[in-house]
Amino acid sequence: MCGIFGYCNYLVEKTRGEIIDTLVEGLERLEYRGYDSTGIAIDGDEPDSIDIFREIGKVSSLKEQIKKANPNRDVTYLTHSGIAHTRWATHGQPKQVNCHPQRSDAENQFVIIHNGIITNFRELKTLLMNKGYTFESDTDTECIAKLFLHLYQTNLKSGHELDFHELSKLVLMELEGSYGLLCKSIHYPGEVIATRKGSPLLIGVKSEKKLKVDFVDVEFPDENAAQPETPMTINEPKVIKSSSLKSNKSDFHSKDGLMPIAANEFNLRHSQSRAFLSEDGAPNPIEFFISSDAASVIKYTKKVLFLEDDDIAHIYDGELHIHRSRKDVGGSMTRSIQTLELELAQIMKGPYKHFMQKEIYEQPESTYNTMRGRLDFDNNLVNLGGLQQFIPTIRRARRLIMIACGTSYHSCLATRAIFEEFSDLPVSIELASDFLDRKCPVFRDDVCVFVSQSGETADTMFALNYVMERGALTVGIVNTVGSSISRATNCGVHINAGPEIGVASTKAYTSQYIALVMFAVLLGEDRISKTERRKEIIQGLKLIPEQIKQVLKLEPRIKQLCENELSDQKSLLLLGRGYQFASALEGALKIKEISYMHSEGVLAGELKHGVLALVDEELPIIAFGTRDSLFPKVVSSIEQVTARKGHPIIICNENDEVWNKKKSENDKFITLEVPTTVDCLQGLINIIPLQLMSYWLASNKGIDVDFPRNLAKSVTVE
Ligand code: F6R
Repeated sequence: MCGIFGYCNYLVEKTRGEIIDTLVEGLERLEYRGYDSTGIAIDGDEPDSIDIFREIGKVSSLKEQIKKANPNRDVTYLTHSGIAHTRWATHGQPKQVNCHPQRSDAENQFVIIHNGIITNFRELKTLLMNKGYTFESDTDTECIAKLFLHLYQTNLKSGHELDFHELSKLVLMELEGSYGLLCKSIHYPGEVIATRKGSPLLIGVKSEKKLKVDFVDVEFPDENAAQPETPMTINEPKVIKSSSLKSNKSDFHSKDGLMPIAANEFNLRHSQSRAFLSEDGAPNPIEFFISSDAASVIKYTKKVLFLEDDDIAHIYDGELHIHRSRKDVGGSMTRSIQTLELELAQIMKGPYKHFMQKEIYEQPESTYNTMRGRLDFDNNLVNLGGLQQFIPTIRRARRLIMIACGTSYHSCLATRAIFEEFSDLPVSIELASDFLDRKCPVFRDDVCVFVSQSGETADTMFALNYVMERGALTVGIVNTVGSSISRATNCGVHINAGPEIGVASTKAYTSQYIALVMFAVLLGEDRISKTERRKEIIQGLKLIPEQIKQVLKLEPRIKQLCENELSDQKSLLLLGRGYQFASALEGALKIKEISYMHSEGVLAGELKHGVLALVDEELPIIAFGTRDSLFPKVVSSIEQVTARKGHPIIICNENDEVWNKKKSENDKFITLEVPTTVDCLQGLINIIPLQLMSYWLASNKGIDVDFPRNLAKSVTVE
């Protein structure tokens, strides 16, 4: 979805040019999250002014626009804050006025970048228009900027100069929906507000000297504090007694930390909001990098702090203060600074043309990393540290519900049978959106497994909240460490596939698949009757990385098929049955999202119930014909296709006599031979040719594979 990036320096001398370059480079690393339009806001040439640069299209267009505007790059700043955004349109077409940053007015008094959706923006817009504000965009975000200005001015008129974070609290009280947002203002120079609800945000900290603390205390509003007079809100302007307000930030520091601040409903329960002093207690030259994604900060620092929902981070004077926008006092009192285990090389394309291609080729390594340290190949045992203590509870569950979207859902489908086999529990799999639409009944003794690469997908996250409210145990199978889903679930497994940047998910699928198989096998570890089966699967898993390496060698043949048999085709059917139904659905999804060719995954058993009508000499069909207990039924489905003059491409095991015979009888019969593994693991191998096929179908059409139209990585809106 959209990408957010912010940069603040304090006592670190930077030219304006360097600040622009940092913001633009941050955006380049986030571009895969949305690429309809981009923009930045920095301090302007005039005192107390903000310059906004924004452009439709990719970051390269923004760079051109900035170059044309020719801003003075030589001015130096010891303290500065800048914000930047790459957008995937939700409200409003991708046109210039809809690009972020959005602003409060022509003077750019408040500028905002925002990821998410404000669901009550129409009401807010009407209210603000009635108060005389005029809107220039179709976005929901513009409301937020205008709300900042409105509340700033109305409070100021009554003599109250609110602190930036207090003003932000008032604004957030009016917003419904989800947001990750940054705000910069001419009234708070050098400061920035970063706040989130349902949309990820982290803050990278780069300090020349060692920091005195490696955590930031959170300021919780005090539930028991006397209710204050309501500060100015948009609906009910009331005058706040000036005696109850601290109007100047410098007033906030007292011996024991920060004083209660404007609108004294928010007495601080925990008063030490730590400043980033160096160990010797001296002011510290420091830089902050705020982002929706660790990929854009890793070049500068590995020290990051993840914000939680309803946190308001206020950065000024080299300090980071975290306040809560809600009066709840649950949750952690501190946000610790963590060290990212991520290398810059992992988020670079290296010798590959596209991230997707790189990630397809990384699979021998990424699948190995998913298993590393978790499988005992000598004793055929599984050890999943994040799950182990919950396994007895999970075994006693009423049922398992697996919940996910898109490719992650397909990994659930691919492994459902193995869960049923090893756990003897009823297992249902759910598309997160549909699960919520139906308000599916969930009970305290259910176990719900949430699978997500990003760990931030809104539908999955909402389903997780829904389940948490009903008291079921929640398990996360997540790639992104520190993501919302990995933090909110009771227990889980990180799939350790490494950052996935290509919009089409590839290596996350195979790693999710393996993590789920390991989970299923672990559930059945107490069953003697399953000893041989467990051994077969664990030994099968050991060979998977090498077998993937082998199947990747099919690339030239697949490329050829894409240039000949499959080129210029409008539509494609993929047939699979049993374990391979998931491969058919996932293969079809890869092809449609990247190459825009209509493709449909069909359960082979359903062919005769309708889909067969589509089959003729022209329609390309890919069938998964690898060996398992359903093989005879798959052969029969293929015969139904050939009887209608269809020419299937069969993904089959090496030297399979059945398919060899058919090939010898029909010269239009095509096979792609893949290595053989255990039935329940075969989908890990079979999906690779489809990933390569989607890549080449798209590449041959000149599509920028990493930027498929209308899509973005990590869908953080409903
Ligand atoms: C397809 C794809 C999407 C995601 C889906 C869920 O290639 O990437 O279908 O799988 O949006 O995303 P995560 O796994 O991040 O929850």
